Order: sequence, then C-alpha cells, then structure tokens
Amino acid sequence: MSFPFQIKSLQEYNTAYAKSVENPEQFWADIADTFMWRKKWDKVLEWDFKKPDIKWFINGKLNITENCLDRHLARSGDDPAIIWEPNSKDEPHKVLTYNDLHFRVNQFANVLRNNGVKKGDRICIYMGMVPELPIAMLACARIGAIHSVIFGGFSAQSIADRLQDANAEFIITCDGAYRGGKDIALKNIIDDALIACAFVKRVIVFNRTHTPVSMIKGRDVWWDEEIQIVEEQGNPVMPAEEMDAEDPLFILYTSGSTGKPKGVVHSSAGYMVYSTYSFVNVFQYQPGDVHFCTADIGWITGHTYIIYSVLCAGGTSLMYEGLPAWPDAGRLWDIVDKHKVNILYTAPTAIRSLMAYGLEPLKGKSLDTLRVLGTVGEPINEEAWHWYDEHIGKKRCPIVDTWWQTETGGIMISNLAGVTPSKPSYATLPLPGIQPVLVDEQGKVIEGNDVSGNLCIRFPWPSVIRTTYGDHERCRLNYFATYHDLYFTGDGCYRDSQGQYRITGRVDDVLNVSGHRIGTAEVENAINRHTGVLESAVVGYPHDLKGQGIYAYVILGHSPEDANYMRADINQTVTRIIGAIARPDKIQFVSGLPKTRSGKIMRRILRKIAENEMGSIGDTTTLLDPAVVEEIKAGRV
Ligand code: PRX
Repeated sequence: MSFPFQIKSLQEYNTAYAKSVENPEQFWADIADTFMWRKKWDKVLEWDFKKPDIKWFINGKLNITENCLDRHLARSGDDPAIIWEPNSKDEPHKVLTYNDLHFRVNQFANVLRNNGVKKGDRICIYMGMVPELPIAMLACARIGAIHSVIFGGFSAQSIADRLQDANAEFIITCDGAYRGGKDIALKNIIDDALIACAFVKRVIVFNRTHTPVSMIKGRDVWWDEEIQIVEEQGNPVMPAEEMDAEDPLFILYTSGSTGKPKGVVHSSAGYMVYSTYSFVNVFQYQPGDVHFCTADIGWITGHTYIIYSVLCAGGTSLMYEGLPAWPDAGRLWDIVDKHKVNILYTAPTAIRSLMAYGLEPLKGKSLDTLRVLGTVGEPINEEAWHWYDEHIGKKRCPIVDTWWQTETGGIMISNLAGVTPSKPSYATLPLPGIQPVLVDEQGKVIEGNDVSGNLCIRFPWPSVIRTTYGDHERCRLNYFATYHDLYFTGDGCYRDSQGQYRITGRVDDVLNVSGHRIGTAEVENAINRHTGVLESAVVGYPHDLKGQGIYAYVILGHSPEDANYMRADINQTVTRIIGAIARPDKIQFVSGLPKTRSGKIMRRILRKIAENEMGSIGDTTTLLDPAVVEEIKAGRV
C-alpha cells in the first residue's frame, strides 16, 4: 500500500504544516479520502471546545475493520498482518496474514453475535498479549461493540470499578497469562471482580495457560467451544456494521488528578484517520517493514501502534507476549534479529533497564535491519537516548521521541524519522494539524521562543478525546475548562530558541511511573483504606529506572510494632485495590503533614523532601505547624 500523504522532506513537512493550519478542513479531507468509506462525510468539522462538542467527518459512514482488513485482502491478503512472538523462546511464533486475521475476526465476531452482543454494547477485554487479544478487539469493532481493554496488571477492584463505570455486560478474558516467569491467573481475578458486578451476562474465556478456572454455568463459556459452534454454522462472514464517523470505537481508562480513573472515549473515523496518518509519517513506514512496538495492548500505545494504525496502513505488526529482560536481557534483540525488525518502538524505562545490563546481551544479535527507533511514554534522559542511538541504532537510525497521550489518540509532537531533525530529549515539532500553545498559570499565551509554560493545543485534531464515558462534564473540567478555548494536556513544556518542544513532565497530580500514568489521589485513596492509616500524601520522586518513583507519607493511628510489616501491608492493600504498578517505592511514617491554615496539603514541600532538594523548600512560616517539616526532613527514607 502506498501512502499519498507520506511526508518525504523537510520542505514537504513545512508545506503540509502550513496547509493544516490555513485550511484544516481541506487538509484532513484529503487524507480521509484515502480511506474506505461506506458513505463520505457531509462536512469535515464542527467544534466547540467550551462544551466540548467536537465532530469530524460529519455523517460519514464506515467500519474501521474494513480499513484494517477487508481493503487489503485483494492485493496483500497473504502478507503478514501480525507476527506473534510468545513468552517462551521454546514455543514457536505465529504469523497471521491479512487473510487469516480477516477470517478469525469474522469468526469471533460471530461468536460475539451468538452470545447476544449488539452495536453499542461495552465489552471489557482482560487478556494477556496473545493474538486472540487483537482478534477480540477487531471483532468488537466489526459489529460496533465498544471495547474497553484493561491492562492485565490491574486488580479485581480496578476491573470492577471499570465494569461498573462502563456498565459492561460482556467480558473476554484468558484463563491465565504468561508474563516472564509468572503465570497470572486472569480468570480468577475476573471472578473476584464479578462478585461486585452481578450485571455481567457473559464471560468468554480463552485457554492459554491451562490454569485451573471456575466456569460458572450460564455465564462463562470457552472461546474454543464458541468457535466450534461458528464452524458448525459454516463460518459465515460477518458483515461489518455500518458505523457513524462519530460512533465510539473504544473506551480506555486512564488516571487523572482525581481519585477515579476516567474512561477516555475515541471515535471511529477521526481516530482511524489521525492514528494512521501519524504512524505513516512519524515512523516513515515503508511497505513490507516489520514494526515492533513493545507496549502492552492494554495501554493506548498498544491500541494505536500495535493494532489500528499499523493494520489500516496494511503493515506488519510484531507483538510479543513477554518482558524485555526475560529470560535474559537479550530478549528484545533476539526478536529484532529473528524477525528482521525495521522499526522498534519502546519506552525510556525499558531502554534504561536494558542499558543497566551492559553490552553483553547484544553480542551475536544482528540489529542490521533496524531503520527507525522510537520512544514514548515519558521524557527520555540524554544518557538513555545516546545509548539507544549508539548501541541499538548504531548511529544510523533516526530516533523519534513521540509525545502524546491516551486522550490524543495518536502522536502529537515528534520528529518524523529521517525527515525532520531530531534532538536528544526533545519531542521537537508538532505533526501537521497540531497547534501547540504554551500558557502561563493565568492562561495567558506565551509567545516567542526560549520559553516554558503549560502545554495546550489550540485547534481540534481528528483523534482528540470526545468525552469521558458516562460523565461529559468531567471531560470538560479536566481538559477544556482550565484555559479558554484550549485543550489542556497536563504537561509542562519548554520551547527552545528554534521553536522545538521539550516535554518537562506533568504539572498536575499525576505521576509517570515506568511510562504508566498513576494519579496520586488514587494511590492515597488506596493507602487510606488500610485500617491502620489515618491520612496519607503521595508524590513522585526521580527514579533511575522508572523515571518517577512513588513516595508516600503516611500518618498511622498507632505506631506500628514493626514498621516494615506495616509497609508491606500497605503495599498489599494498594496492590489489591489498584494493582502492583501503583505500589509505593518508599513509605515514610510521619506524625503530621505540612498544611496551610485552610487545611490544604503543601505537596510542593513534600515533593522537595522526596527529591532530596531540602535547600529549595522555601518559606514554611505560613504553615499550620512548621515544625512538622523538620520532622519529615529528618525521617526521609
Ligand atoms: O506526561 C506525558 C507523558 O505521558 C503522558 C501520557 O500518558 P498516557 O496517556 O498513559 O500515554 C502514554 C503513551 C502515549 C503525557 O501527558 N509522555 C508521553 N510521551 C512522552 C511523555 N513525556 C515526555 N516525552 C514523551 N515522548
């Protein structure tokens, strides 16, 4: 498949960018024209950030799976769509061609229909990284059901919260998932979640690990048996449901500054158009390239750059089940060598952890096929950038540092590989269609270069968040109410003397731990559920591997007999309520927290102490109890 909208030079980038700002409607209409539509749109865009009410490709009709699958069959049905590399090196890999994937998606779409799933129903998917996960997602999209994929590291409580929020009556899961040396009992976790979710009608279970599971009559069915029924029905092709451009494609929960994760809703057409446009341009995808994104599909990176954009572009996506350093730190390099990977897209945290093993794991692995490297999820430090450049890319592969968010659907600020310049630790320039703006705390736009501010976006792009599921007001308050007529990202940003952007980290109470977003309020709520805890405050601190670590200040009701046991119990509570990813790295027991006279916790002070920047704590005389700061400083862990 060729891409008429692929930008090939800096000059073409400048022209495309200028056009996207001068006439965004025409710009996006030309790109959208290259997709497969049942019916073209009447109008390209209507928008009002104040509500927010954003509609792209109005009255256009389509189904994203026809763009991901059907339209490639005639010319490239035998091309690999998904290459799957299992957790264990001893298990053979699998290749699903476009024909195979089309067949299996149709088959599973029939399973969903047989089980009573209708257009608009919400389906929770809680699976490991097996090929059946993209099959399940695409089958939902085929029949117009809205998938909500939950990362396999979340706890039963987190799943229950999400099931209730989305009122999801259907679940697709696995008996278990292999992750490194562990076998995670996914169905058992689902069973725990379902104690609080009696409204769930059907659980479809894919057998991956032969982990014992309890299958409840009338509710739980096996994937394979349901497929057999469809085979007996003669494997009918499932006609793709005609979707309106603005019909939701999926919900993906993400953390914010309040205690409750929010369900980010993406549309069918806008998400498809923007994600594919960004994929083809940022990575400079060429037909036949093998694209390896190491993210888990449970996060937006996996949704967009393992599945939807790559398949819409007719590309080959490599997904793997394992962990970067298991069974050894050469795992990723083995995969690159074995499958002749051309594009590698990973997270700074993975680079930093692999860097720590030195160069030995690289020995004997050919990385010659690599052409483009990418990073995502958190700011990349210069040391990791240079290591990636020198030892993985051998100084011949451009590195794209891609800044974006669950809410943006696709990459927003990034260099285009080999086309626009790169600069270590800079995301660099916005993609065409993206108008970044820096503002000060009062919302005043900061013009010029060599300036810092809060990063906002001025004009809608096709894959902007449409709503937060079931609570539109929350979407407005979170993203569109902070600054007038701007989408607020929650990130701080520096624009250098040449107008290039460097993301400096979150300016709200959201942490970025190993590239995963975690709200401090969520962690505090979980800690506070422990019987021994009176109050807590959570902040981030710089962590060599994870980027940010979680530092919790905790006030207990009684002093504990054994502080370490208490810490372990608190960690266990957080693991139960959110998942192991949110466990504090450090817990300090304190007798009080620094508060203003009106009772507000001074997080700035707590951050400085966690960062060991005691010298810059500043004035504490306005605090209710300034002495508490000295105590906390002395007890820092
Ligand atoms: O703080 C930014 C950081 O990750 C946040 C978005 O997290 P999430 O929605 O989970 O999506 C992660 C994958 C797209 C952003 O607000 N972030 C993401 N990419 C970068 C980044 N920070 C610096 N540089 C990046 N390239």
